[in-house]
Amino acid sequence: MRRPFVAGNWKMNKTVDQASVLVQELLSGLQQFTSVERVLCPPFTSLMLLSAQLKDTGIGLGAQNMHWEGSGAFTGEIAPAMVREFCNYVILGHSERRTYFGETDETVNKKLKAALAVGLTPIVCIGETLTQYEAGETQQVVVRQVLQGFKEIESAAASQIVVAYEPVWAIGTGKAATGEGANMVHKEYIRPALAQLFGSAIAQNIRILYGGSVTGANASEFFGQSDIDGALVGGASLKPDFITIVESAAR
Ligand code: PGA
Repeated sequence: MRRPFVAGNWKMNKTVDQASVLVQELLSGLQQFTSVERVLCPPFTSLMLLSAQLKDTGIGLGAQNMHWEGSGAFTGEIAPAMVREFCNYVILGHSERRTYFGETDETVNKKLKAALAVGLTPIVCIGETLTQYEAGETQQVVVRQVLQGFKEIESAAASQIVVAYEPVWAIGTGKAATGEGANMVHKEYIRPALAQLFGSAIAQNIRILYGGSVTGANASEFFGQSDIDGALVGGASLKPDFITIVESAAR
């Protein structure tokens, strides 16, 4: 059985004070749904404070990115061990990072190895763009992202990884995929690609989240599917609607 997983990706939103207020608003609502693995991913600047606020609450903390090198002359970057000081999770390869900051399957692969090496649970994002979707290239794109992004990972470590399928055309657009459409991608394309790398037993244990315009109103459509094991939530994670999504995952 794969434990449901719901993470909130706050993206570049909230100062430390605002983040602290949002956590207070969400905390008691989120705490009751212990069957769901719940994670908040604020900006780096709020990690230190939130790690204290979330201590002993059962709610996990994640970063939204990191560098793969351990230390050195990489101005503006954050090392895996620095993330690990406060977090148990890290989002890697989000489509906004691939689009605006030049991340590739190769850099995602380096980050994935580095995250596993320091004991972080990576949430690795994959998904096709609108152009690729319209050209019928979804399978080709997500399979390549899995095979390249996850290469040279030990099978033993692979079950730690969480995959987030986020079609780029569904992110922040209000145009979510359908539950059935996303499930098909998870079940027919992503899980078989994971099985090709790690064997089917391990592939069956890896959680595959859906992300892209998930709200309290549409969450149950996704969580009712066989191969959708949770959600990576952007916009709705900044509101009490996030509690409704977690509640829906708990059902
Ligand atoms: P959204 O973002 O829920 O605002 O569409 C999802 C994401 O980018 O992780």
